[in-house]
Amino acid sequence: MSQPGDPSATPAPAGVLRLAEDRPRDYQRGPVDWDAGTYHRVSEPQLEWAREVLDRLPLRGDETVLDAGCGTGRVARELLARLPRGRVIAVDAAPAMVRRARSELPARVDVRQIDLLELSLPERVDAVLSTATFHWIADHERLFRRLAAVLVGAGRLVAQCGGRGNIDRVRRTADEVGARAPFGTHLGGWAGPWNYAGPEETERRLLGAGFAAARCWLAPRPVRPPDPPAFVRAVCLRAHLDRLPDELREPFVAAVVRELGQPLELDYVRLNIDARMPGETPDRRAAA
Ligand SMILES: C[S@@+](CC[C@H](N)C(=O)[O-])C[C@H]1O[C@@H](n2cnc3c(N)ncnc32)[C@H](O)[C@@H]1O
Repeated sequence: MSQPGDPSATPAPAGVLRLAEDRPRDYQRGPVDWDAGTYHRVSEPQLEWAREVLDRLPLRGDETVLDAGCGTGRVARELLARLPRGRVIAVDAAPAMVRRARSELPARVDVRQIDLLELSLPERVDAVLSTATFHWIADHERLFRRLAAVLVGAGRLVAQCGGRGNIDRVRRTADEVGARAPFGTHLGGWAGPWNYAGPEETERRLLGAGFAAARCWLAPRPVRPPDPPAFVRAVCLRAHLDRLPDELREPFVAAVVRELGQPLELDYVRLNIDARMPGETPDRRAAA
């Protein structure tokens, strides 16, 4: 089975990131680990955005909802508060994120370490919530098929991730700094890890994956992080740092932050996704 970055995989459709053949082994294998401690501390903007997404998900309170790409569990905690008689399944691929989510969340939350591209669950869920995750995944066709496979009839997908144009200025600056010595041998010519899709192609992919209705739209959400180096290091440049040797990581972050200037405003653009599966009757058979 192909992984993101597998050069033997079928050609990427327009808009889907095809990862470079020369990327480090970690990326050829798929998702890598995160600095969960720093992410937990600096992810206030992501939590704010997630609350908007949660507000779009109508809940009675007794449903089972999957948090797809739960990170350290901050969003799953808020989701749980809206499900007094329901259940939360929280899934993430990164071991450090899963460990942190398990320590942050009550034991009744089922936290699993799973790559969403290989997702299977023991039961179907009424809804999937996902925030700030899909742009880390190259193959959206496969992702949406996996999510559709775990949803009940008429189940909902409500999500938000980085969309077309997201952090364009940060990316350009990281490309420019990354092309120079001493970073160029590690980062030069690398397109970056992200898949910032547009609404039209995403709607098309959702319908192709089996959703009956899909509505997607972009929304600018500029961010002024209180601790710019920590935020840029743990979030924006996380994958860049994986490609650099230890001694070049801090100099790279410092150079990018310096070139972005003060006050630092990050040009975030979010892709919102609301989709619904066909059918009326919930069916909770195994969703493997
Ligand atoms: C920016 S964090 C978002 C976490 C949380 N949803 C939030 O809004 O704060 C992105 C998360 O996506 C996860 N992720 C990326 N690719 C994934 C994949 N293929 N399968 C599962 N999780 C993935 C990462 O491990 C990381 O925890």
